Amino acid sequence: MKQTLRLEPQKEADLRLAADLLLGGGCVAFPTETVYGLGVDATNPSAVNNAFLAKGRPSDNPLIIHLHCQSQLERYCHSIPSIAYQLMERFCPGALTLVLPKRDLVVDAVTAGLDTVAVRFPAHAIARTILQIADIPVAAPSANRSGRPSGTTWQSVLQDLDGRIDAIVCDAPSEIGIESTVVDVTGRFPIVLRCGSVTYAQLSEVCGDLQTLGQVIEPTVNSPGLRHRHYQPTGRVVLVSDLTQLEELLLSGPTPMVSAFIGLDSMLLSLNSSAISKIAICENVDHYARQVFAFFRECDSVEIDTIYCQCVPEQGIGQALMDRLNRAASE
Ligand code: TXA
Ligand code: MG
Repeated sequence: MKQTLRLEPQKEADLRLAADLLLGGGCVAFPTETVYGLGVDATNPSAVNNAFLAKGRPSDNPLIIHLHCQSQLERYCHSIPSIAYQLMERFCPGALTLVLPKRDLVVDAVTAGLDTVAVRFPAHAIARTILQIADIPVAAPSANRSGRPSGTTWQSVLQDLDGRIDAIVCDAPSEIGIESTVVDVTGRFPIVLRCGSVTYAQLSEVCGDLQTLGQVIEPTVNSPGLRHRHYQPTGRVVLVSDLTQLEELLLSGPTPMVSAFIGLDSMLLSLNSSAISKIAICENVDHYARQVFAFFRECDSVEIDTIYCQCVPEQGIGQALMDRLNRAASE
């Protein structure tokens, strides 16, 4: 166990310390607009290994490197196609990650031995400041124990990683709440490997031809992250389409001891069931996406055994939200 330093984003000295810790091979959690990241120097194999150890992450699941400026890109990637520049022009800095051919400077531990590397330019001001001061590529997986819901508040990050990492920059909750959209641009057509807040429709405006993983022959080869358990709270996640279905579920079958609901349907507030002890009615799909992982963790802390999640239309960020909910619900 080490002591995890709590750094304050308002203090310049604390952001310098975060950068110094990264340069010295430390593990530092920091905010981004999607979710909190667990940063390490992507050129330092032992630092990268420590991030895998702190998370308990399978070593075959590669990490995203975070950069502060596009001029850094050619140092770490080669054969960058023009579509990559068009996508960066439109969506970077932001919640888009591009998979590109890697150069040797990025160590194999980061890419799990692949010859490609995933690159993101976060828009978050604190993340950018740390990246600018350190001026190294920072590999940063989501700051959570592997398999658990991503950390979207500093408290969630500490719940999973306190004593396992060197420091955390304790900022506000993540604005988006769901991880970046990952697009592989190494082939003939860009392929969406993971959906996120940069939507399929927005990408299509730039790319025209675009494929999703379902259209690709071997999803787990292109997107190693899909091989593993993800986003799962301790309580069982059950998806419901509407209030009627929830009522049916509550009436039939063995009633769960303690359950919770998250969704959009305010009708639920009138549901007369003592089985539901925790309810989050979200204002819209963005709000739902922002809340969902923290809600899962709150449910765990009061030992909820079933979490009912209302499905949303698979449009816009709803597609990414449904992807995460489906994976949280999978056995
Ligand atoms: O929003 C985000 O992307 C957050 C913040 C911290 O930037 N990071 C994040 O990292 O979600 P992580 O490690 O939890 O997810 C990275 C995803 C995984 O699904 C991984 O398989 C995929 O990116 N990935 C990384 N490198 C890849 C590569 N070379 N080829 C294909 N997929 C890759
Ligand atoms: Mg993750």
